[in-house]
Amino acid sequence: MFAKKIISGKILLCIALFIAETQPAQSQNPNYDESKVPAYELPDPLLSNDGKPIVNKEMWFNKRRPEILKLFESQVYGKSPALQNGITFKISAVNDSALGGSAVQKQIEITVKDRISLAMLIYLPNDAEEPVPLFVGLNFYGNHSIHSDPGIHLSPNWMRNNEKFGIFNNRATEESRGVRASRWPVENIIKRGYGLATIYYGDIDPDFDDNFQNGVHPLFYKSGEKVPAADEWGSIAAWAWGLSRAMDYFENDACIDPARIAVMGHSRLGKTALWAGARDQRFALVISNNSGCGGAALSRRKFGETIKKINTNFPHWFCDNFNLYNDREENLPVDQHMLIALIAPRPVYIASAEKDRWADPRGEFLASLHADPVYKLLGTEGLPTKKMPDTNSPVMGTIGYHIREGKHDVTDYDWNRYMDFADRHLQK
Ligand code: GCU
Repeated sequence: MFAKKIISGKILLCIALFIAETQPAQSQNPNYDESKVPAYELPDPLLSNDGKPIVNKEMWFNKRRPEILKLFESQVYGKSPALQNGITFKISAVNDSALGGSAVQKQIEITVKDRISLAMLIYLPNDAEEPVPLFVGLNFYGNHSIHSDPGIHLSPNWMRNNEKFGIFNNRATEESRGVRASRWPVENIIKRGYGLATIYYGDIDPDFDDNFQNGVHPLFYKSGEKVPAADEWGSIAAWAWGLSRAMDYFENDACIDPARIAVMGHSRLGKTALWAGARDQRFALVISNNSGCGGAALSRRKFGETIKKINTNFPHWFCDNFNLYNDREENLPVDQHMLIALIAPRPVYIASAEKDRWADPRGEFLASLHADPVYKLLGTEGLPTKKMPDTNSPVMGTIGYHIREGKHDVTDYDWNRYMDFADRHLQK
């Protein structure tokens, strides 16, 4: 009986992973027709819950920003636990002449309540004379996947099977080294004077629906609690929480400038980067690469992936309350332009890809545009255009945006723009 249960659990998991892997776009008849986008009205980020216009910085920070943050917490991503003690850092390896001598490589173990360990890989330029600005982002396939450097510890944790990437029985192998190097131009980042830090997102919470029994969630259950409450954190919020723990470390490393940290993420991890940057104002700059539904794209457009589709295919990503808005986008008290607005006045860059219709590039642009009034209220340049730019023609104010040619991916083109943007905002 017990064996049967395990087998059927495994089969269910396989089916769920199969659905997750095979991008359900076609089977779910997404709308890709601009003329079928419904008429919608966006909630005004500059009108408080009690209907009062927000007319200055103080009102934004004391009244409206906390209101919006609370709405995203309780209705979209779920509340994360306040940080108690119980986070420790250990330097597990240092290589002073990594990448042919151009970088210092550090591997840090961040331990949460003595039970979960997040492995962070850091590269820093070797010739820096002062604490460096740094990009931090989570990765999908283990730290060893971002570069072929044999000194990177191979992640021992659960990972989605991928024959091409040498991942079998949900574990990485030597063959998995560097399989995602195309998305992480480490040498180029170092050359341009930035550090890079990354953590495997599965160290924080493995990306499958197990009713929150693994990952960091159970470490924070209140007495008697077995799953997060309807307004408590799902996996995206947990991953974002993990990024804040990385930030805690940066505040303790004299080689890194904690006031110049850019958080970056792709796709589900782009949603995560936005939420991390929205919650944690220590992040100086935020980058969303092809984050789509539940990230930078406006939900009310129902173009490509919708709230119902995302909640059905990935029931563990958001808080349970987000299900209230399946096919009921108009009832949402927020939309994703307000997520971007939470980052203001800090610089934010939203990037789309032409063929990534599932993520709704126009919806990503429009969310950036509708965040602009908040950026302007706070005295910044905001987004220096009202018109969606042409392909491969980035615009950069305090809000940056580009749509590049090609598919859902992270490319050198994207990274070069992020570094151009960081040069404007983070270099002294
Ligand atoms: C799926 C999902 C998207 C997500 C993407 C990814 O396509 O529907 O919302 O952004 O996976 O993370 O790769």
